[in-house]
Amino acid sequence: MDLKLTGKRVLVTGGNSGLGAAMVRAFAAEHARVAINYVVHPEQTAQLAGQLRAGGGEVLELAADVTQANDVAAMFRKIDGAWGGLDVLVNNAGIDGTRAMAWEADTAAWNRVLQINLVGAFLCAREALKRMVPQRSGVIINTSSVHELIAWSGYSAYAASKAGVSMMSKTLAQEAGPYGVRVLCIAPGAIRTPINATVWQDAAGQQDLISKIAIGRVGEPEDVAGMAVVLASDVAAYVTGSSVLVDGGMTDYPAFSHGG
Ligand code: NAI
Ligand code: BGC
Repeated sequence: MDLKLTGKRVLVTGGNSGLGAAMVRAFAAEHARVAINYVVHPEQTAQLAGQLRAGGGEVLELAADVTQANDVAAMFRKIDGAWGGLDVLVNNAGIDGTRAMAWEADTAAWNRVLQINLVGAFLCAREALKRMVPQRSGVIINTSSVHELIAWSGYSAYAASKAGVSMMSKTLAQEAGPYGVRVLCIAPGAIRTPINATVWQDAAGQQDLISKIAIGRVGEPEDVAGMAVVLASDVAAYVTGSSVLVDGGMTDYPAFSHGG
């Protein structure tokens, strides 16, 4: 199926690693123009951009810390300069944060998770909407998580940030819908990336993770990237304000396949 993304102008935040890098590749494979935002590892970004350019892709490499409004505004100005606007924003940058029970939590660390995952997504969405609303088209995909729904002991900041991203998305979808702009969440389950490498690289950790997934395997970044390109396309023209779970059935609670 032709998703008709050829030439579309796409920005992926945190696009040099894990899910972001897979989404960058997937959009480039659909012949979209892709801006890779990064805050660390410029060499990783350059390597990915180089591979895509070698295949004929049009790629920008844009350094910006998504928590910094000035950085974000400057990044969007660079996109304006190169492409005259944006069609798709994927808010992907995020961190789990350090595991800590609330009564042991460091408030600066707790706030940092909210700043990156929620405030960073808002700052980028705001700049994108400034452009998409007047042009009366555009799609914003926010990366939430199954933890917008499932509580996660030791990660109260993370779960709160992802629930916040979900409700922020619904609200922005309401605001932007009349202008032809869609805003939605992609909500992955456990996907094999650097964010959770300490879990899936450990045999017992991997087994525990798999026991939480109905399909019985940890997800791959491509499982999420494929859905992202579909959601960005007109195939999903009637999808807005919702969260699309890509979780192998983690929210199907496989622990209930026995007992209960
Ligand atoms: P990752 O650690 O490979 O990628 C995270 C990216 O965000 C990196 O490129 C990192 O440099 C970037 N980033 C962090 N702080 C930033 C900042 N201030 N400004 C700009 N970029 C920043 O991890 P992964 O798994 O690819 O995570 C991507 C997103 O997917 C995150 O929002 C995460 O919460 C979410 N997610 C991941 C799941 C998984 O199982 N891997 C499941 C559900 C959601
Ligand atoms: C987290 C991962 C975790 C997964 C399932 C994601 O939101 O970023 O570290 O493995 O949820 O719990």
